[in-house]
Amino acid sequence: MNDIFVPREAVEKQLEIASSLKDGADKKVCILTFGCQQNEADSEILSGLCQIAGYGETSEPKDADLILINTCAIREHAELKALSRTGQFKKLKEQNKDLLIGVCGCMAEQKERREALMKSYPYVDFVFGTDKLYMLPQMIKEAKKAKKRSVYISELPHNEFGIIAEGIPLRRNSSHKAKVSIMYGCDNFCTYCVVPYVRGRERSRESEKILAEVRELVENGYKDIMLLGQNVNSYNGDISFPKLLEKAGSMNGEYFLRFMTSHPKDASRELVEVIRDVPNVAKHFHLPVQSGNNRVLSAMNRRYTREKYLEKALEIKSLVPDITMTTDIICGFPTETEKEFLETVDIVKQVEFDMIFTFLYSPRPGTPAARMEDQIPHEEKVRRFELLSAVQNDIADKLNKKYVGRTVRVLCDSSVNGECSGRTSGNKIVNFDGKASVGSIVDVKITSSGAYILKGEEIYG
Ligand code: SAH
Ligand code: SF4
Ligand code: F3S
Repeated sequence: MNDIFVPREAVEKQLEIASSLKDGADKKVCILTFGCQQNEADSEILSGLCQIAGYGETSEPKDADLILINTCAIREHAELKALSRTGQFKKLKEQNKDLLIGVCGCMAEQKERREALMKSYPYVDFVFGTDKLYMLPQMIKEAKKAKKRSVYISELPHNEFGIIAEGIPLRRNSSHKAKVSIMYGCDNFCTYCVVPYVRGRERSRESEKILAEVRELVENGYKDIMLLGQNVNSYNGDISFPKLLEKAGSMNGEYFLRFMTSHPKDASRELVEVIRDVPNVAKHFHLPVQSGNNRVLSAMNRRYTREKYLEKALEIKSLVPDITMTTDIICGFPTETEKEFLETVDIVKQVEFDMIFTFLYSPRPGTPAARMEDQIPHEEKVRRFELLSAVQNDIADKLNKKYVGRTVRVLCDSSVNGECSGRTSGNKIVNFDGKASVGSIVDVKITSSGAYILKGEEIYG
């Protein structure tokens, strides 16, 4: 197991370089993050390193001395967004020759993308992969000194390299919500997905390190803590995922302990029982189904059937009363027929998800699905997407009506002139009248509902 960890000395060397970059100047870093929560967590590592190097934070690229673009490759749309932002920085670089620009994240891991990026954006100073984050101080130092472009990538598979770097102080972007990465990478190779190619094989942190981080967060008043991984419930450290969740949810005080994202094949009964029995474990299960048709599921290489998924989802709902269930669905996977799509609509109706995240299938170069014949036309994907959204809207509307008249615990995320907003343990958004301070958990009586939002009033005393 040891060979998956970056040697302590290598991390310390980077922390030393970071300290040496601190020169008393008023420097700022602007980190633009595209993609999933894992990327957001990575950006907090980058920000932590920048903090040691003396960089404050800014959300304005024009005020920055260093711009980092943390990219995502999951769908074409995400890639285009990152590229168009990168394109906007040409002017800034012309105006300020000392500005440093780095591109990292999942796009950087793909050879063709990386090469095209270096060619199209000659003003980008350095490019680095998802397992080289800890080397940022060295990259900054070299870019400042040599003024020559550099690339830091290790070839996949990542498990043969030291790719979990412990001991880097993070700069978190919230004082009451935190993300804790517990595992990285993916071994599943769903045929549409780029993640296993850009994030490498699954590897897990040690439970002791994870629990120490969670404990520190709870002691520092964090109320919403999310354990993160591409397949968080496939965690394969020194204890099982249900045990880890149980321990992480059993610290002093009230908080919501979340976990994202789960793969249905590893959604065990033991895990469901922990969600039911440990009060601080959030009553929310995000369980991506992708499709409700067995032929499509098999073509996607999802390793479960419609029947198995349904059995699991209904078991979760019956064992944990009031649990919120959400899912991901892909519309227009190549070869998907209308009849097969209607089975997806049907499973959505049967499970009655609180929310679904629906995506138009986007061919990812190098993945098996992108090479399949019978790609579905864009307009047809959109039609399926819209039909599914309309069905879901009615379901969510119906489910949320059940909350009216009830009192729920809400973690307040914003509070302005008596108008507050927050989330329940089940991750429902609640807008409410009250005096709650940001980061506190309060009782709210729900007075009305819509498909996406509950409304209510704070109950005092
Ligand atoms: N590991 C998670 C998913 C991470 S990606 C899981 O297996 O559930 C988040 C979501 O993006 C996926 O659930 C899927 O619905 C969607 N997705 C992945 N690749 C896609 C593609 N090529 N086109 C469209 N959506 C995609
Ligand atoms: Fe992608 Fe499938 Fe892995 Fe999720 S489980 S990250 S969808 S390959
Ligand atoms: Fe995107 Fe990489 Fe996450 S491809 S979804 S940022 S793992």
